[in-house]
Amino acid sequence: MKKERIETGIPGLDQLIGGGLIPNSLTLLTGTTGTGKTISSSQFIYYGVKDFNQPGVYVSFEEPVDNIKENCLDFGWDFEPLERKGKVVFVRYDPFHVEDIYELIETNIKKIEAKRVVIDSISALGLYVRDIPDIRRMVFNISLLLRKLGCTSILVSETLPAQGSLSRFGVEEFVTDNVIVYYYTRTGSQFSRSLTIWKMRGSKHSNKLHPYAITKEGIIVYSKEEAFSKL
Ligand SMILES: Nc1ncnc2c1ncn2[C@@H]1O[C@H](COP(=O)(O)OP(=O)(O)OP(=O)(O)O)[C@@H](O)[C@H]1O
Ligand SMILES: [Mg+2]
Repeated sequence: MKKERIETGIPGLDQLIGGGLIPNSLTLLTGTTGTGKTISSSQFIYYGVKDFNQPGVYVSFEEPVDNIKENCLDFGWDFEPLERKGKVVFVRYDPFHVEDIYELIETNIKKIEAKRVVIDSISALGLYVRDIPDIRRMVFNISLLLRKLGCTSILVSETLPAQGSLSRFGVEEFVTDNVIVYYYTRTGSQFSRSLTIWKMRGSKHSNKLHPYAITKEGIIVYSKEEAFSKL
């Protein structure tokens, strides 16, 4: 029997991961700044509602949610009507107590019976919590919570250009089932975008580097093409 998959809404990406994400799985979307992580995550939430009637929660730690929604209008994704219908919730995480994060996530998921969740970004936890072991514990607890609530989720993580690792705190890639890495690399006088599926638990996936683009319709992955960037 073919496993059920959650289509990402990103053309080309599902072809690299066996048709889509495994339901109830957790995906780390990691890459340097400006690689399109927020756009991809918004696309995942938007098409989840539009094409599959799966409500979505977007938790932003950094960008004001109005900015994210306004930028999405450039791609033709209008979240306002979806919010009014109770299909999407955007929440900005503004902590008084950093422990509020669990309640914030849980309350909003239950409110709209969300099936898709984005946390953008987990790296920003470092703004609120100093102690690395504390942050790791929080990342782990957030992952447990998202699994318990039956959501298919994306955790965004920012890496620094010179950083060799996949995440900021060195734990995000271990608590997630899937890791997708976005690259922005230089070839000669030009920068180009490419991605790879670093891991996908319980699934076959491409192990190549594929080009992608940020177009006026959002992110498009060229799944049949290979990128030749030097990382
Ligand atoms: N309307 C648009 N059309 C084409 N490309 C765009 C458009 N808007 C943004 N971009 C591209 O997308 C990039 C920003 O994407 P996004 O905000 O998703 O990145 P990010 O990975 O979330 O970055 P950060 O880590 O800073 O949050 C811009 O640098 C620009 O190259
Ligand atoms: Mg972003």
